[in-house]
Amino acid sequence: MSQQRLSRAELLQKLTETSQGTPMGRLLRTFWHPVSTADAVKPGKARPIRIMGEDLTLYRGESGKPYLVSGWCAHRLTRLHTGWVEGEEVRCIYHGWKYDGTGQCTQMPAEKPGLEKTVKITAYPVREYGGFVFAYLGEGNVPEFSLPRKEVIEKPDRMIFAREQKWPCNWLQKVENSLDAVHVSFVHQKGKIGPFGQAVTAALPDLEYVETDAGIRQIATRGPGNVRVSDWTFPNNNHIIVPSAFKEDTWLDLIIWMVPNDDHHTTRFQLYSVPNMDEGRNQRIAEHFRKYSSYNPTEHHDELFNDIYPEEPLFELTNAQDYVAAIGQGAIANRADERLGASDSGVALLRRLMIREMEAVNAGTSRKHWQPLKHAEELPIQGAA
Ligand code: FES
Ligand SMILES: [Fe+2]
Repeated sequence: MSQQRLSRAELLQKLTETSQGTPMGRLLRTFWHPVSTADAVKPGKARPIRIMGEDLTLYRGESGKPYLVSGWCAHRLTRLHTGWVEGEEVRCIYHGWKYDGTGQCTQMPAEKPGLEKTVKITAYPVREYGGFVFAYLGEGNVPEFSLPRKEVIEKPDRMIFAREQKWPCNWLQKVENSLDAVHVSFVHQKGKIGPFGQAVTAALPDLEYVETDAGIRQIATRGPGNVRVSDWTFPNNNHIIVPSAFKEDTWLDLIIWMVPNDDHHTTRFQLYSVPNMDEGRNQRIAEHFRKYSSYNPTEHHDELFNDIYPEEPLFELTNAQDYVAAIGQGAIANRADERLGASDSGVALLRRLMIREMEAVNAGTSRKHWQPLKHAEELPIQGAA
């Protein structure tokens, strides 16, 4: 892949392609990604997942330990999650071949003993963190699980809520939206103005985007006392602070990973970290999460595109507003036809970093060693509450 030979449109197209062997797919596979909420796979159960175009089986052994192996049995290629878990292994529904968590076949009931040793399916390392199962789908040495760990996820005095939500659009659209502070002044004023839209106001921000050790720091200033800072971690994580569903409550930390399922679908893994308040408020917010946080705008597509917006502000309205803007761009936005302005400087910086890193990985030249920010846990948002 050479930048000289590719047009700008072709290069941007490359950023949207994440399947195995693509330049962006290779780059993304050098990072750990969340692949499932931890709750979505119970001990002794399996679930099918699709990450960057790869069909996989996530299962938990009866001990509760998670494993990630191929989505397909090696024999005659039926889906592995339709079988069942035995101990720490998974057995295929069709003819009973059994695999361990490293992908090694351990039994072929209808074949001569010993043949199983010759068959191994794909398997990837996993790890649980912040209410999610993360996986490393890359080649070679597995990197340390260090980005983007945050103190607000690990502090004992916080309530953590992990959610996942699949949208029918390319991952890059969602990541670009994270570096687009202007959208807040319009998207979150549409349909109904919730606490988020009110707090941030319709005023247009002065923008500053700075490359950091971890990614990009975004500073949007909408007048004195309304400075919104967010900490975006390379390549697909954003950390912001948002108002609670209840006006008098403390703001919440929201940390979102945008993980490609394939080039036309993206799962938003959302982690809400709620500072402890008094017991009554803690219970109230936990109940609110239980009641509303499974909302997925994908299931309300027709209503939303007919201007019918939900009421609940934290999970429904804000997500619905972002959904309409992102899905309105098409499954994969046609960047060849877009017209960027000066206010798109965050999107432009993001693309420059993506292209720089993508080309370095594919050329085998030296690339940036991203590392967590030293003081990332507190995002200053003065006067905006
Ligand atoms: S297809 Fe899985 S055992 Fe035959
Ligand atoms: Fe938004």
